Amino acid sequence: MTTHSVEAFRQKNVLLGGEWQENEQGNRITLDSPSSGENIGSVPALNKAEVDKAVEAARGAQKQWQKTPLHERKQLLLRWADKLEENKEAIGTVIMQEVAKKKSSAVDEVVRTADFIRHTAEEGVRINGELLTGDSYNGGPAGKTAQVSRVPLGVVLAIAPFNYPLNLSASKIAPALMTGNSVIFKPATQGSLSGIMMMETLEEAGLPKGLVNVTTGRGSEIGDVLVTHDGIDQISFTGGSGTGISMAEKAGMVPMVLELGGKDPAIVLEDADLDKAAKEITGGAFSYSGQRCTAIKRVLVKEEAADELVAKLKEKVEALSVGKPEDDADITPLINDKGADYLQGLIDDTIADGAEVVTENKRDGRQFSPVLFDHVSTESRIAWEEPFGPVLPVIRVKDEDEAVKIANDSEYGLQASVFTQDINTAHRIADELEVGSVQVNGKTSRGPDHFPFLGVKNSGMGVQGVRYSLLSYTREKVTVINQ
Ligand code: G3H
Repeated sequence: MTTHSVEAFRQKNVLLGGEWQENEQGNRITLDSPSSGENIGSVPALNKAEVDKAVEAARGAQKQWQKTPLHERKQLLLRWADKLEENKEAIGTVIMQEVAKKKSSAVDEVVRTADFIRHTAEEGVRINGELLTGDSYNGGPAGKTAQVSRVPLGVVLAIAPFNYPLNLSASKIAPALMTGNSVIFKPATQGSLSGIMMMETLEEAGLPKGLVNVTTGRGSEIGDVLVTHDGIDQISFTGGSGTGISMAEKAGMVPMVLELGGKDPAIVLEDADLDKAAKEITGGAFSYSGQRCTAIKRVLVKEEAADELVAKLKEKVEALSVGKPEDDADITPLINDKGADYLQGLIDDTIADGAEVVTENKRDGRQFSPVLFDHVSTESRIAWEEPFGPVLPVIRVKDEDEAVKIANDSEYGLQASVFTQDINTAHRIADELEVGSVQVNGKTSRGPDHFPFLGVKNSGMGVQGVRYSLLSYTREKVTVINQ
C-alpha cells in the first residue's frame, strides 16, 4: 500500500562527515508501518564507498574529540538529552509508527533515553585511572610507578535493534562519546527514522563534524563491510544470537559488546505471592508484545501452585488490550511477516504437541492475541526457542531441581526470575542459575539503566549499564615512571 496518509512522509538523509547526505545514486529504502502497512518514510541505501567515507570521517574527528575536556563532552550530552526530551512527542510518534510500539511506551522510551544520556554524562566525568607503585609486588622496585589511565578505543560501531530504536542506540552512542570515541551508528532499518531524528537533536546540541556518522542501508550490502572494516575499533551490537555469533566470527580481534537473545524463565514456587507473580509475569512476558530480549519466555511452576497461578495469569492476560499502537493497545502487530509466521509455527507446533491453550488463539496478519499455554512439554520447541511475540508457555515441574535444570538446559543465559517468599531459597536458586541477572520476586528487565546488564552463553558478551558501558569503550593505557 502506498498512501501517505500519515501525518508526514519522512524522507530522511544521513549524517556523513558532518553533512546530511543521500546515496550518490539516489538509492533509498522505503519503510512501511508494521501496523497500518502505509509508507512512512525512506532512508538512503548506502554503498561500500559511503561506508568508507563515514569511517574516515569518524577517524579524523576522534583525534580531536579525545582531547576535548571531559566537562565539555558532558555538556554536549546534557544539551542532547534536553533536546531529545523537548521532542519526545514527535520522536515518540515516529517510534510508534515505525516499530508499532504503543504510543505511551514509545514516548517513555524517549524520556528513558534522555535520562540515560544525563546519567552517562554525570558518571562519565568520574571514570578515572589509578596509580600503582612497584614496591607493592613482592621484591618490586620502590622507584617504579605505573600510571594507569583509561583511554578511548577509537571508532565504535554501534548497531541497534528495532525494538528500542532510540534507547538501545543511545545506550551505545552516549557512553562511547563520553569516553572520547567517535561513532558509526547503524540503526535497524525499521527504526532508522527515529534514530535519524535522534541524530538531528544531537547535531542541534553541537555535535562536532564527523564525530557521529549514520550508515543506513541493506545488511546484505553494508553489514559485512562495517563489521570487517579495518577502521573500526570496537563493535557494540544488540540483536539476535545467530547474527551476533556470526559477527564475532568475522570481527576477529576487535573488542565487542554483544546483547543477544534470551529464553528467560520465571520460576514460581508454591510459597510465592501468586498475585504478585502473575502481575509481574504478565508484564514481563507481554510488554511490547513480547518483542524484548528480556521478556519472560517460559514459566516453570511447581505443580502445587500451578492451577492457581495459571488461573491468575489467564485473568491478567485476557485483560490485555489488542489493537493499534496509536490507541495505546498492549498487544500490537509484530514487526514483520517473517516474525509473525515464525511465531505461528511455534504456536501450531505447541498445540500439536498437546499443550492446553488457555487463552484465545487468534491472528489477523501480524496482529496476534496474547496466548497462554499450560501443560507445555519440554519436548516442544517453545520450551527452548525465542518466540519474540505474545505467547507464554507454562511448564509444570515437580521440584526446584527440575526447574533449575530446565532453566539451565537452554542455549541462552540472559536473566531469570524466581518467585518465593523464602529469601534463602531464592538465593540458593539464584546461585544455581546460569544467567547474567536473577530477579527475585520481580519480572526480568534491563533497568534501571545503571545496573549491570549482561548475558552468558549465547545471550551475549561484555557488560552494559551506565558505568559498565563507559568502561567498555575504554582500555587501560599504562605509563611507567622509573625513578
Ligand atoms: O530487548 C532487549 C532490551 O535490552 C530489553 O530491555 O528489559 O528494558 O525491555 P528492557
